[in-house]
Amino acid sequence: MRSFSKIVSTTSIIAVAITGLGLASTTVNAAGTSKADLEKGQALAFNRKKGNCLACHSIKGGKLPGNIAPPLVAMKARFPDKAVLRAQIYNASAKNPNSIMPPFGRHKIISEKEIDLITDFIHQL
Ligand code: HEC
Repeated sequence: MRSFSKIVSTTSIIAVAITGLGLASTTVNAAGTSKADLEKGQALAFNRKKGNCLACHSIKGGKLPGNIAPPLVAMKARFPDKAVLRAQIYNASAKNPNSIMPPFGRHKIISEKEIDLITDFIHQL
């Protein structure tokens, strides 16, 4: 009986811990981006009719990435200023006129809001 109540209390501690984690993930991360928005950004980045970033870049969680562009890792270290990252995604040809990366914003391939969501997702990689 004693060990049974011990199991019950251990189980409820685990349940509380899991619930706590669940709540934390529905709120916002340190950068102020909600988990739901990060998921939207990831979906847009991976969608072949939207960002299609995986055609050229390797990105954590993405399947069958291309390798003709640098892997998108350690983004915060390499792009401390998120605005610089957004500008790269908006119009890669501003920095490199010969870039093969599509100028997503300039050509209105994806909307301003979608570029914000993709930038938030990429920045935390
Ligand atoms: C057709 C290939 C292609 C696609 C699609 C593409 N990129 Fe790129 N990207 C490149 C290349 C090539 C570079 C290297 C710099 C250059 O040539 O402009 C680059 C550079 C970058 C950089 C700078 C990386 C660094 O280390 O400095 C970022 C950030 C980036 N791309 C993000 C994205 C995102 C986000 C998407 C999807 C919305 C995307 N790219 C889609 C080809 C692509």
